[in-house]
Amino acid sequence: MEVWTIANQKGGVGKTSTTVALAGIAAAAGQRVLMVDLDPHGSLSMYFRQEPDYTHKSTYTLFEKRNRLNKELLLSLIRKTPLPTLHLLPAATALATLERQMHACDGLGLVISRALELIKEDFDLVILDCPPVLGVLMINALAACQQLIIPVQTEYLAIKGLERMLHTLKMLGRSRPTPLSYVVVPTMFDRRTSASVQSLRALRNEYGDCVWKGKVVIDTRIRDASKAGVPPNLFSPHSSAVECYQRLYDQLACHEILTDGEHRCAS
Ligand SMILES: Nc1ncnc2c1ncn2[C@@H]1O[C@H](COP(=O)(O)OP(=O)(O)OP(=O)(O)O)[C@@H](O)[C@H]1O
Ligand SMILES: [Mg+2]
Repeated sequence: MEVWTIANQKGGVGKTSTTVALAGIAAAAGQRVLMVDLDPHGSLSMYFRQEPDYTHKSTYTLFEKRNRLNKELLLSLIRKTPLPTLHLLPAATALATLERQMHACDGLGLVISRALELIKEDFDLVILDCPPVLGVLMINALAACQQLIIPVQTEYLAIKGLERMLHTLKMLGRSRPTPLSYVVVPTMFDRRTSASVQSLRALRNEYGDCVWKGKVVIDTRIRDASKAGVPPNLFSPHSSAVECYQRLYDQLACHEILTDGEHRCAS
């Protein structure tokens, strides 16, 4: 089982869309895929028509029952989606209360990695969708994954936000046994606007090899797919954003995008 985390402390940069797009493509290729919603706002869950307000069986349950979690309980939390090989562990708004509990409880940072260990034979790929905050949920995701994908919208403020994310990564990296490989993925690129073109250029100049050589273009079908509640590759297989995500998936799946402990990468 491989675990990928999609994270960025900046909001609205395409984390959830990237999660669904990559997961949909992997599932269509026959992989047994689990998407895990770690965001108390539950956008990923709502994408698949699961209301986080009413979800008792959720990622929160993993934290709540962390001392008596077993495989059967964990599997009972997982929902089906329109693709038979694509599954979802939905979020609950109660996840927002974890931050307060973090100070009182030890071992909260490894709940997700321990849970995934129980089902490592049941899924080929797990994708963790993070909230846009550095907190216990993102720390769990970073501890549990082998690959980090950082979507960055091609606009000035989002690039500024990346600095913060990479700084966080450096600090957290010190407590990991193995270095975390990461790749920055430019998203919502609009070649018609000079702001987007200039931002992409700045991103590549500043972060060089850490940035994926491709980019995800802006495409209204990403929004339409979320409205329809199906992954973009099912909704509109030949749309331009799906083609971008397919290229990204192919490179990630073949480990063509590799990073080392110095956080350098090449694609
Ligand atoms: N390539 C794209 N083309 C057009 N719209 C997009 C694209 N990618 C994402 N969007 C839209 O941008 C909005 C924000 O995307 P998304 O929810 O994936 O971001 P996020 O980083 O998960 O946000 P949050 O930080 O709130 O969790 C959504 O409405 C989504 O449909
Ligand atoms: Mg999101």
